[in-house]
Amino acid sequence: MKLCMIGTGYVGLVSGTCFADIGNQVYCVDKDVSKINKLNLGISPIYEPGLNELIKKNYTANRLIFTTDLKKAVNSSDIIFICVGTPTKKGSLKVDLSYVYKSIKEIISSTKNKKIIVTKSTVPVGTGDEIEKIIKKLKRKNFEIISNPEFLREGDAIRDFRYPDRIVIGSNNKKIFKKMRTLYTPLISKGAKFFTTSRRGAELIKYASNAFLATKITFINEISNLCEKTEVNVEDISLGIGSDNRIGSRFLRAGPAYGGSCFPKDTKGLVSIAEKNKINLSIVKSVIKSNQNRVNLHTKRIHKIIGSNVRNKKIAFLGVTFKPNTDDMRDSTSLKMIPYLCKKGAKVSYYDPSGKKKEFSKIKNCKYENDIKNNCKNADLIILLTEWDEFKTIDFKKINKNKNLRIYDLRNLYNLDQMKDKKMKYYSVGRPDIN
Ligand code: UDX
Repeated sequence: MKLCMIGTGYVGLVSGTCFADIGNQVYCVDKDVSKINKLNLGISPIYEPGLNELIKKNYTANRLIFTTDLKKAVNSSDIIFICVGTPTKKGSLKVDLSYVYKSIKEIISSTKNKKIIVTKSTVPVGTGDEIEKIIKKLKRKNFEIISNPEFLREGDAIRDFRYPDRIVIGSNNKKIFKKMRTLYTPLISKGAKFFTTSRRGAELIKYASNAFLATKITFINEISNLCEKTEVNVEDISLGIGSDNRIGSRFLRAGPAYGGSCFPKDTKGLVSIAEKNKINLSIVKSVIKSNQNRVNLHTKRIHKIIGSNVRNKKIAFLGVTFKPNTDDMRDSTSLKMIPYLCKKGAKVSYYDPSGKKKEFSKIKNCKYENDIKNNCKNADLIILLTEWDEFKTIDFKKINKNKNLRIYDLRNLYNLDQMKDKKMKYYSVGRPDIN
């Protein structure tokens, strides 16, 4: 099929590239000329494992076209996917849909032919209806608006696209389901569930799904606080409750706090959608609050570990991105924790395998180190914030001779017995301290 992706962020670029890889011709459109130029040189503007190779392969095979020419791309395609950002409006919980509506208007004015427009961006329930109203106002009839939310995770995006648990298609016109099923046949034949519902249903599934996962993480994070007080290992709890199929074992890893481009934004978005409909989502509200407060628990713990006065203490961060295998910093705990410690006079250094060098360049007392060894060698405290693979096998005794070195592992990456054997002063999340 001939497809057009509007927006080349994580969702648009990854799904566009993967759609091309299963045999479609895909136009990827973006307003950002430098992004399109980069892509035309075969360079991905985002860090996502395997994406560069897949872009090159499909670009060379003429299945992937990068352009700023929306009109041409729209007229050359049967299905147009809206993949633009839907951020939180500044100072509120509301969803900013301006990029979606702008794209819609541009599409409408670009073509007179019949097109299917699919919202892949996360949009509030009822957005499809609003889009239809815009189209009606302009006295146009040639567009079919459907919803097909994307569930891929950063860092695992290609695998998630290829092997989704489910493909959700929301439409009020049942005839469209057949066409979308054909598009997704290569994934359905590998086991993906093809699920159809109303357009509003599909829109709400995405928000409910992200809010539920954020709730699951927040639940185990709060249980980990209790574990710390009661000398219980939270990993036993995750395993013990996760073995119940009704609960499920995934997304039960206690950690710093959920971050990234979706959970913080979509939990807030869902609350604002509910408020608009005069519904109080008290659980989701509590989740947002609990997650936002979590950084305070960690900073308190840091003071407990190295003392209330951190002036001139050397603190080394391993990882600053919100999760491994991405260069995304959005809502990462590091953005709150590093400025806090620097303000208190600590000398902070950090290393991140994604090569994030400039994120904290404006902060006094904070410097980037280009490898693990240089970052850790003189530290009083090492804080592991992101569980990148290359951190799994660090020999801390070898790279840091400081007898008082302490390690605060916010991802429970290291084995407690091994840390005990190595006589490390080791603190983690919801597990007994070793000191
Ligand atoms: C999420 C959803 O998983 C995905 O379906 C949606 O399309 C976009 O949002 P993403 O934000 O890329 O994906 O990453 P994810 O792996 O879900 O992690 C989100 C945050 O939760 C990260 O900060 C991660 O470290 C944290 N997390 C995840 C935990 O703290 N514990 C867990 O058990 C799982």
